Amino acid sequence: MSDAESNTAAYLPLTEKCHHYTRRSDVDWDIQKYWAQRYSIFSLYDEGIHMTDDSWFGVTPEPVANKVAEDLSALTPKSKTVLIDMFAGAGGNVIAFALSKRWSTIIAIEKDPSVIACAQHNANIYGVFEQITWINDDSFSYLEKNSTSIDPSKTVIFASPPWGGPGYTTDKIFNLNTMAPYSIKQIHNVCRGMDSALYLPRTSDLRQIAKLAPGEEKIEVVQYCMEGASKALVAYIPAIALTSS
Ligand SMILES: C[S@@+](CC[C@H](N)C(=O)[O-])C[C@H]1O[C@@H](n2cnc3c(N)ncnc32)[C@H](O)[C@@H]1O
Repeated sequence: MSDAESNTAAYLPLTEKCHHYTRRSDVDWDIQKYWAQRYSIFSLYDEGIHMTDDSWFGVTPEPVANKVAEDLSALTPKSKTVLIDMFAGAGGNVIAFALSKRWSTIIAIEKDPSVIACAQHNANIYGVFEQITWINDDSFSYLEKNSTSIDPSKTVIFASPPWGGPGYTTDKIFNLNTMAPYSIKQIHNVCRGMDSALYLPRTSDLRQIAKLAPGEEKIEVVQYCMEGASKALVAYIPAIALTSS
């Protein structure tokens, strides 16, 4: 993994976009409902959790992130020891993966320097900063650049892509082919040689997910709920055997 580590990010400084809000009146109206749920999102919020305003919309709440980490561990053969989080955000999932102690290497990729700085800071609060290799880069180009050093037989990809912003859908069935800015096909194309877990809207079109199954293999789809309501689903997709030509 030496090439893969060459653009590793050290502890990046928090920027003026990173906030720890303590008063509702400081919070923009459109994130006030998320801020009200701050302890469900990060139970250690009061220790100084930082977020950018945009990252409130996409962060995975801690109980869901912990359950996803538990399920990914259970569903993955022990021979796979490397986990790559393609869209680390403010750290909701990657912190839970590190706390699960299941992985010998965890690589967290995030393209926005302010957001990755929040994720690092938050991981430090949870005591797992050192367990994670931080990459401040575009995950698609990172995976391409490191395609020869990443061993698909040992690696699992986790991807929680943007779903298109806060009003991501009003449709009854979410169309993964028009998901913005990356369609399901674009994401699956870069990770299909490895087992992958895709964190997607709860109303995602299951027929589009089913098309990603290699041959006769099955895809597990799990709905993750909090207080009786689904927050998201995760599709656990087996690798496609790729020829090396
Ligand atoms: C839905 S959020 C991830 C939330 C994360 N799982 C959490 O719990 O905090 C998606 C993140 O992907 C980042 N992102 C978008 N495109 C990216 C790319 N091509 N490479 C790396 N990060 C990207 C965005 O900046 C955003 O922070």
